Amino acid sequence: MLKRLDELEQKALKDLEGALDEATLQAWKVSYLGRGAELGKITEGLRELSKEERPVVGRRANEVKKALEAAYEGRETSMQQAAVERSLREERLDVTLPGRSVSRGRIHPANQMLRRVYAIFAEMGFQIYRSREVETDEYNFGLLNIPPFHPARDLWDTFYTTGEGVLLRTHTSPGQILVMRERAPEPIRVILPGMCYRYEQISARSEIQFNQVEGLAIGKNITFTDLKGTLVAFARRLYGDEVRTRFRAGHFPFTEPSAEMDIECFVCDGEGCGVCKKTGWLEILGCGMVHPTVLTNGGYDPEMVSGFAFGMGTERIAMNIHRIDDIRNFWANDLRFLEQF
Ligand code: DAH
Repeated sequence: MLKRLDELEQKALKDLEGALDEATLQAWKVSYLGRGAELGKITEGLRELSKEERPVVGRRANEVKKALEAAYEGRETSMQQAAVERSLREERLDVTLPGRSVSRGRIHPANQMLRRVYAIFAEMGFQIYRSREVETDEYNFGLLNIPPFHPARDLWDTFYTTGEGVLLRTHTSPGQILVMRERAPEPIRVILPGMCYRYEQISARSEIQFNQVEGLAIGKNITFTDLKGTLVAFARRLYGDEVRTRFRAGHFPFTEPSAEMDIECFVCDGEGCGVCKKTGWLEILGCGMVHPTVLTNGGYDPEMVSGFAFGMGTERIAMNIHRIDDIRNFWANDLRFLEQF
């Protein structure tokens, strides 16, 4: 029996050397130390032995059990240590590596330009009034003194919808009627920004969608001088105090008289260059005194009040300021372009 215990101990210890992973180690434990293992059976069979043999075998069996348990624990600890060391080795972080920089989102250049314009007019007391992008023929044209079949409609190539008389606004001017009808007979000083749509051939100079900022002031004794003063002040704030401006006679059905405002080309200082097409001037907006018919349509009495209005395309202005040579950049969503602003 003692010999059997020696053999058992040796075999168990030898087997243990082959247990290199957790699963084999557990299987080893079951077969040598578990219930029904040979060692257990020997202990259970002790009482069948003679009085002399019993204590000797019992002690030896106990020794073997202790030895195997100790060997098991030693193996388990070293296995755990090895696992920790392996993960330290393999998952080591190099804290000296530079971090990955997160690219910040930013305001779209078209919106940056809009905000500059808002800020300037806000300081002059203009409120921002937002109006709808889907309009009716009546507001976009009719009430602005552009009746059906009027040749001036050719200025605005229009996206019509399947709805009768419903279209995408071709300019922000219909907002004028909306504010007037809401505010009459009170005085008005607002700007009306927003997206406009035209059914145009897309090119470097024209897009089918673009932002405009419309302006409208109505009150007693408003004159063309007020219009000029306001717009010159605006140009100075946007381009700098030295900027030279000029007003040319123009034509819009909703204003009378009408004008177009130019600023001196800041690229060539008026010498004439590619940006200003050799004229020395850059057109920045259309403007005029609100036509009596439009005032009436808005609910005002043209005998009592007068007003001025203006409208500018802000992408065009941003193009001049930032020397952007292709308007399509604004909606192409190319990060290489957008990240420059
Ligand atoms: N609505 C015009 C356009 O889209 C711009 C404009 C011109 C607006 C003169 C005005 C104005 O308010 O008075 O071309």
